[in-house]
Amino acid sequence: MNKRILQVFEQHPHAFLSGEELSRQLNCSRTAIWKHIRSLREAGYEFDSAPRKGYKLISKPEKLNAAELIGGLTTKVMGRQLHILDEVDSTQAVAHALVGSGAVEGTLVLAERQTSGRGRMGRHWHSPPGKGIWLSLVLTPRIPIYFTPQLTLLAAVAVCRSIQKLCKVEIGIKWPNDLLIHGKKVCGILLEINGEDERLKYVIAGIGISANLRLEDYPEELRGVATSLAIESGSAVSRTAVIQAFLREFEDLYGLYHEEGFGPIRLLWETYSVSLHRPIRVQTPNGLMEGMAESIDESGALTISLASGESIRVFSGDVELR
Ligand code: BTN
Repeated sequence: MNKRILQVFEQHPHAFLSGEELSRQLNCSRTAIWKHIRSLREAGYEFDSAPRKGYKLISKPEKLNAAELIGGLTTKVMGRQLHILDEVDSTQAVAHALVGSGAVEGTLVLAERQTSGRGRMGRHWHSPPGKGIWLSLVLTPRIPIYFTPQLTLLAAVAVCRSIQKLCKVEIGIKWPNDLLIHGKKVCGILLEINGEDERLKYVIAGIGISANLRLEDYPEELRGVATSLAIESGSAVSRTAVIQAFLREFEDLYGLYHEEGFGPIRLLWETYSVSLHRPIRVQTPNGLMEGMAESIDESGALTISLASGESIRVFSGDVELR
């Protein structure tokens, strides 16, 4: 039925079609039409609606296309093996399974929509269709397992650099992995590792960038804390261009990291940080800590000086800027 509704709109481009007219043409109730329009909206189609006039189709979801993406790719490894899926539970789960069947470093999984997008600390990641960049990248870095948090910071720098090249927005990083524009979250990073003892087998870098979401695409509880590139820059961005630019930046930084270690990455990260040298509150596995965010150490941990004068290192947690 959704297909038939879209056909009718395509026969009448730029026109309002009333619920009554649609129900007559498609031989179903007005309630059924309303439900189908709602499901099309959820799938990324945008409709204008006006009382007594009905609905007008404004835009269709922009689909990611493998040939277009690969065509403009300037990397050697990252993204060269590409899987673009329509709907998945989580691109992370798909990437883990692909590694199980022999996927190589740089394999990229993209989905238009995730039904169980994974966030940090067991949270859900809101991943509506057609408007976001929901990606997982397979990595097999030659590093000890306890260095992997450094890759989160590396990925954050790569996203910042790519976004700054393409959009006129000021982007910053809140330790460890939240990318913010005007204090609101635009991107989250989740690293999942597979290893044994100290030996790292592989890493899946999961990155969610809210590219073209509009305020109404977010559930109520996220509207005050989340934003998108389109909201902040005032115009839609090409998801393909952002992905290509990100892969380029990531590959360069990843090469630098293997040649020179974490030092240069840390310096770059610091230039984007919005949490260093500021009073913060952080929820750690040992409870709530308050103090001054001092620095990032060699392992990617955050050093905080507490009011008592003591310095502590935090390896994971949620930072709140005070
Ligand atoms: C966070 O909590 O900030 C991390 C969010 C990471 C979300 C991305 S979207 C693509 C990949 N697949 C997932 O299920 N999660 C990551």
